[in-house]
Amino acid sequence: MFDFSPEPGASGPELYDSLVQAAAALVDGEPDPVANMANLAALIWQFVPELNWAGFYRMIEGELVLGPFIGKPACLRIALGSGVCGTAAATMQSQCVADVHAFPGHIACDAASASELVVPVIRDGTVIAVIDLDSPRPARFAADDVTGMEALARIISPSI
Ligand code: SME
Repeated sequence: MFDFSPEPGASGPELYDSLVQAAAALVDGEPDPVANMANLAALIWQFVPELNWAGFYRMIEGELVLGPFIGKPACLRIALGSGVCGTAAATMQSQCVADVHAFPGHIACDAASASELVVPVIRDGTVIAVIDLDSPRPARFAADDVTGMEALARIISPSI
């Protein structure tokens, strides 16, 4: 049994330090990318408050394809450059969107989503996946979330 949980009241860098350590321990020694992404989606869901969707899209033959996640069923494929996920993948830059309704081309998978953070996972200089977090609270994600999720993406990149 894995028993990772955030320190009560932890937030910002402290929360993400624990999350990154837990993620590294969780994927240690497991070569299967789907198993690792499934557990990582569950771990993010457990650590990061105020989410209604957390998971992965994988880069497959030039488009993003839905991977393991927690949340409502979501769109299966996203073209590079499309929506928040496709923009993060195309630019190789994290996208922190305070108001998804104001983001041109935002793809609505859950009507409850109000803000979104998408972080690319890069291996050997190319995007192999994105991590997508949605929140029902407008402007839920701050600089600490971006930095923390980017640290997570670096740690898990060899394991997904
Ligand atoms: N909103 C995303 C689509 C994926 S769902 O949020 C799970 C986008 O605009 O790319």
